[in-house]
Amino acid sequence: MYFYHSNQSNMPYNLLKGKKGIIFGALDEKSIAWKTAMRCHEEGAELLLTNAPVAMRMGEINKLAAAVNAPVIPCDVSSNEDVLNLITKAMEHFGGGVDFILHSIGMSLNVRKGKPYTEIDYGFNAKTLDISAMSLHRVLATAMKLDAINEWGSVIALSYIAAQRVFPDYNEMADAKALLESVSRSFGYHYALKKHVRVNTVSQSPTRTTAGSGVKGFDGFINYAEKMSPLGNASSEDCANYCVTLFSDYTRMVTMQNLFHDGGFSTVGVTEPVIDQMEK
Ligand SMILES: NC(=O)c1ccc[n+]([C@@H]2O[C@H](COP(=O)([O-])OP(=O)(O)OC[C@H]3O[C@@H](n4cnc5c(N)ncnc54)[C@H](O)[C@@H]3O)[C@@H](O)[C@H]2O)c1
Repeated sequence: MYFYHSNQSNMPYNLLKGKKGIIFGALDEKSIAWKTAMRCHEEGAELLLTNAPVAMRMGEINKLAAAVNAPVIPCDVSSNEDVLNLITKAMEHFGGGVDFILHSIGMSLNVRKGKPYTEIDYGFNAKTLDISAMSLHRVLATAMKLDAINEWGSVIALSYIAAQRVFPDYNEMADAKALLESVSRSFGYHYALKKHVRVNTVSQSPTRTTAGSGVKGFDGFINYAEKMSPLGNASSEDCANYCVTLFSDYTRMVTMQNLFHDGGFSTVGVTEPVIDQMEK
């Protein structure tokens, strides 16, 4: 097999030929969901795109919809009705169930309002956890109820290593990611038994997107991660490629995992570039 670097053009392998999927969270061209939708399309998948109504008003998603030939259905993932409507419409559109779902959603109200972690507003916090983590449960529970995911389907939610280690400015999103990873494990158990559906989280390197850049001190953060990762930070294109493999039939027995996609960052104690920096 020929492996290409993310800078080189992608060579499709038809890994997702005949598969149908729902992609949550493509806001603009920088979004991990945007890149993943493009790669899934190139690999032969049929897609349906969705985002929060407020995000869709920016209109960018229509460009992606045209590029990947997919309908767009608005859905605020904190609303039971919206999620039910989305999954119902997706089944109507595809004439049955889907084979994969990408949950690429994050929102911290306390970060937005500039509240430090030690002084968070609990009302905002409840909303953050609902949008960023429990929404995965809502999507899976709705899909299970409507039998909307086909046998051996694959669901991925995007996470970050702040779920395991402290990154002070990641704020309440660290707790949201810990909850997200837990929901993925817990629901993954039930969906595996019910329909061989696998559920995993991909823990991605810091990436320059709208959500990513919202984290205080992001430039220092991303440069540090780059120096601490023997392969360097994983790009959003690399993340999209990884998601394609996880949606494909080549990873059918992988479930209930938090999969680090971070150039080695999560296993490193220190690197020479960081030691050099500290000796200056
Ligand atoms: N960028 C990074 O550094 C990084 C690193 C690791 C993990 N992640 C995760 O990747 C995922 C995608 O983020 P991104 O970096 O591509 O940024 P992004 O800003 O492009 O995507 C976040 C998406 O969440 C959507 N969203 C927010 N509230 C919503 C709601 N109520 N209903 C439906 N959708 C809603 C936004 O509209 C947006 O499309 C997030 O889970 C994020 O935490 C990002």
